[in-house]
Formats: sequence, structure tokens, C-alpha cells
Amino acid sequence: MDSAILSLLGAFVLSIIGLFVFIWSLRKGLLVENPAAASVIFARGEIGRVDDPALAGAARDSMQQAAAGDAQAAHAAADEAELRDRIASDRSTAFPVFMFVAFACFWLIVGSFAGLTSSIKLHEPDWLTNQAWLTFGRIRTVHLTAVLYGWITNAALGMIIWLLPRLLRTRLHGAVWTMLGGALINTGIAAGIGAISAGWSDGMEYLEIPWQIAVFILVGFVFVVLPVLFTLVNRKVEHLYVSVWYMVAALLWISLLFLVGKLPGVHTGVQQATTNWWYGHNVLGLWFTPVSVGAIYYFLPKIIGRPVRSYNLSILGFWTLAFFYGQVGGHHLIGGPVPGWLTTLSIVQSLMMVIPVIAFSINMGGTLKGRMHLARYSPTLRFMMFGGLMYFASSVQGSLEALRSVNQVTHFTHFTVAHAHLGAYAFVSMVLFGAIYFMMPRVLNWEWPYPKLITLHFWLAAIGVTIYFVGLTIGGWLQGLAMLDAARPFIDSVNVTLPWLKWRSVGGSLMVLGHLVFVGHFLAMALRFGPTRTGAALFAHNNELELAYGK
Ligand code: HEM
Ligand code: HEM
Repeated sequence: MDSAILSLLGAFVLSIIGLFVFIWSLRKGLLVENPAAASVIFARGEIGRVDDPALAGAARDSMQQAAAGDAQAAHAAADEAELRDRIASDRSTAFPVFMFVAFACFWLIVGSFAGLTSSIKLHEPDWLTNQAWLTFGRIRTVHLTAVLYGWITNAALGMIIWLLPRLLRTRLHGAVWTMLGGALINTGIAAGIGAISAGWSDGMEYLEIPWQIAVFILVGFVFVVLPVLFTLVNRKVEHLYVSVWYMVAALLWISLLFLVGKLPGVHTGVQQATTNWWYGHNVLGLWFTPVSVGAIYYFLPKIIGRPVRSYNLSILGFWTLAFFYGQVGGHHLIGGPVPGWLTTLSIVQSLMMVIPVIAFSINMGGTLKGRMHLARYSPTLRFMMFGGLMYFASSVQGSLEALRSVNQVTHFTHFTVAHAHLGAYAFVSMVLFGAIYFMMPRVLNWEWPYPKLITLHFWLAAIGVTIYFVGLTIGGWLQGLAMLDAARPFIDSVNVTLPWLKWRSVGGSLMVLGHLVFVGHFLAMALRFGPTRTGAALFAHNNELELAYGK
């Protein structure tokens, strides 16, 4: 048995043992329902009080009124000691968080234009053919590297660094190291994108950055992970809220995954493909997904001022995600030259993923019950709710797509690309946008200058990705059917996709426009544009304001 199969089998056996330990802990009552744990993100007097820093004072009052029923909670006495800890945490993280978010915005713009260019090239193949770096194979890969590592990874790191000290009631230990880490990671991304544009790539999807450059990223990660662990060790809280579980685990997972995925000269041939997709789906399932789910578990209850409905379900979601996601990578190789049991194992695990997804969805539905209308008032809540719903949609779609009968049609088609954007954009990116809208007023000590732009961004992104997803799903399915029909010439499967590829460019253009609005707004905020209002929590001005509006 070769090493790739051994490591997969080892991971499988480990996950089954883990599952039994989990069942045992349930039977022992170690996971009793714990409403107190669900409330740790609130200081005394905060439950019942809505909170969205992206809203100005009057708009926040309207939202509080719309949250009816708990209105008297808005006047409850606040726990000053806890709020002061939070202010200290926010101060310690402000600079590194700003750095990560600024990098994320930069790469979002680079990645967006690279994506739109790749999209247009698929229906206008004679456009921009004179420069090698602008050919589809390279610009598509630049798109992937810029959005997955430049945008999502930077935004995720910024969010983790902002959130964990808050949840642990301590300052960020080793902030300077995280910044050094950020500088190294972004040097690696920039050099990687340069190398890919010049035609130098390791040739494995999501692992294209040459390993000689990837070393920078890996060392950068170490400089970010160690201060986070140090902060965890020096925490002032007894209980670790579920978002801490998701985010710390995700940081450890991605560091290990990247290390193994990039080890040079170890995997070759079919083994290399197996390792490639072990990494490929784990970067989605054990990095982007837990970070985003952990974010929803914090921001959504915080915005609506109500603890998560069932804390146990959130823990069940965490452990089942940890047990099942690790083995799903094989579903990218269905029909490939890999052992049948390997793909069958991954299909079974892909279906098991409905457990964490349903646990999450029921929990969020219960938490939001009677409060969904608050999305009309809160822009941050809108992004979070949309992202949460799309987590459910992309995962259920993914589980079905892993079935052999469905994959036979969809594999090698644009259907997969539609699913990829439902997950990486409609779910992950929308959650990150929401988190940035929530965090930045506290990071920059300034309000979002033009709140209407947040609404404009939301609709451009939501409508854009809907057009993108629906168009390519239909086009991809028709393409698959045409390819499977031996009586039809291959060119039919190309022609049938053309109108849908054009729709993708239309949807993609709206998304890009949304990103320009978002990044322009971010710049305007950083440059202190717009009127100075007193509605948002401006912690540096004086503590009273902070206490008056809650955190
Ligand atoms: C239960 C959860 C999920 C399952 C079972 C699943 C399953 C699948 C399957 C079967 C494919 C197609 C493989 C192929 O035919 O080549 C796929 C592709 C993909 N999925 Fe998922 N998916 C899930 C959730 C997600 C989420 C949450 C994201 C985003 C964060 C995501 C991102 C992607 C991407 C980017 C691809 C394209 C990979 C490529 O480059 O070929 N998936 N997924
Ligand atoms: C932050 C935003 C975005 C993220 C996270 C993202 C993510 C991804 C991912 C994961 C893939 C690989 C899919 C696969 O191979 O199955 C991909 C490919 C692609 N994306 Fe995006 N994307 C984003 C925005 C956009 C935009 C705005 C466009 C513009 C139309 C776009 C167009 C494309 C194209 C053309 C491909 C290549 C598809 C192919 O190989 O056939 N993306 N993107």
C-alpha cells in the first residue's frame, strides 16, 4: 500500500475513533445543554440589545425598536469591566487587523479583474492573446491565487486576530509577530502571482505557487499562529466559545495542510493527484468553512442581541465537520485512476457532511426566529444571513454532486465552477464582507462614511453571484449531457455553453462593481471621509460612548 493511501486510511480510522469518543462523551453527559456558554459573547446587560457598528445612531435605534420585546434590555446596566477588556483587546489588534484587511482589499481587486478577464476569454477567445501572462491558463490561476490566498486568507486572518482576543478577554500577545507574518504571507502571494504570470508554477490546483516561494507563506503562518496560541494560553475566560474552537482549529489545520501539500518531491503520479485533492478540498473544508461558520456563530447572535439557540448543536457541528470533512477530497477524482474504495469512502463522507450542515442550519434558524426582519435594518446581518443560507445551499449541493450518477454529468463542466462560487463567494466571501463591515468602525475608530454604499455593495454582490450561479449551473449541466451523448460531436458541448458563459460575465461584472464600491468605501473610511457622527461606538473618543452603545 502506498503512502497516500496509508495516510488517508489513517485519517479515516482516526476520525472513526474520534466519533466514538464523541458518542461516549455525549453518553457521559459531558455535553449537556449549556445556555450560559452560548451567552459568553455578551457582557451583562447586552442580551436583547442589537448591535451593528455599520449603522449610525438613529438607524440603530430603529433596529432596536424593531427587535421589540426586549427593548427594556437596551437600558440594562452594562458590565464596565468586561467592556473595558474588550476595548483593550480592540486596541491591541487594531493595527494588524487593518493591515490584513487592507491586503485583502487589494487582492480582491486584482483577483476580480483577473476573474472577469478569464470569464470574457471563454466566450471571446481572440481577446488579449498577445501577452503570455494574459492567456487563460495563467490569468485563471492568477485569479484563483489572488482570491483564495490574497482575499479570503487575509480577510480570514484579520477577522481571527480581531475576534479571538475579544472572546478570550485579553490583548493580542505578540501583535508585532502577526504583522511580520502578514508581511511574509503577502510577499509570498505577490511573488507567487508574479511567478504564475511568468509561467512558473507547481502545476497542482490551489498549490500552484512554487514551493520555493511557498516557504514564505508557511513561515508567515507560523508567525501568525504562535501569537494566537500564546493569546489563547493567556486568556482570562474559563469557557471557550464555539467560534474559538472553529478558528483555532482552522488555523492549525491550514498550516499543516499547506506544509504537507507543498512538500517537494514526495508525491508523484496518481499519489500526487490524491494528495492534491486531499489538500484541495481541505483548504475549503478545514480552512474557509470553519472560519466562516465560526464567524457566523459570533456575529449573527451579536447583531440581533440573542444567544445562539442550541450551544450543543454548535459543538456537534464542529466535531462532525472535523470528523467527516478530512476525507471528502477523493470526490474530485471520481472516475479517475484511483482505487474505487477511495472514492467510495469520500462519497460516503461527503454525504455525512449533511450532519454538521443541518446542525448549523437548524441552530441558526432557531436563533433568528422572529428576528429575520432585522436584516432590513442591519447591513451586516444581511451579509451574514445570506452567507449562512449559502453554506447550507452549497454544502447540500456538494453532497449531491459527489454521487457518482450526478458527478458523471457535472465533472469537467462549468457546473463545478458554479458550485465553487456558491461556496467560495456566496457563502465565504459574503460572510467576510459582513465581518469587515462590523469590525472596521472599531478598528479605525471611524464610521463607514456612506452607509448607502453598503446596501449597494450587498445587492451588486447578491444579484451578481445569483446570475453567475444560475447561468453556469444550467450551462454546465447542458454541457455535461452533450459530452455524454456519443452521437453528438464534441463541439456541441462547447456551443451549448456560450450564452451561459456570457451571462457569467454579466453576473461577474456586477460582482466586480460591488468590489469596487466596497474597496472605494474602505479607502474613504481609512482616509477619514464623510461626516463625523456620534452614533457608532468610537472607543478612543471616550469610554462613555462605548458603554452607551454596547459592543
Ligand atoms: C458538504 C459539503 C460539500 C461537498 C460534499 C462538496 C462536494 C463537491 C464536489 C463533488 C465537487 C466537484 C468535484 C468534481 O467533480 O471535480 C466540488 C467542487 C468544489 N467545491 Fe464543493 N462541496 C461542499 C462544500 C463546499 C464549500 C462550503 C465550498 C466553499 C467554501 C466548496 C468549494 C468547492 C470548490 C472551489 C470546488 C471546485 C474545485 C475545483 O477546482 O475543481 N464546496 N465540491
Ligand atoms: C472573491 C471572489 C471570488 C472567489 C472567491 C472566486 C473563486 C473561484 C474558484 C474557487 C475558482 C475555481 C473553480 C473551479 O475550478 O472549479 C474560480 C474560477 C473562476 N472564477 Fe472565480 N471567484 C471569485 C470571483 C470571480 C469573479 C468576479 C469572476 C468574474 C466573472 C470570476 C470568474 C472565474 C472564472 C472565469 C474562473 C475559471 C473557471 C474555469 O476554469 O472554467 N470569479 N473562482
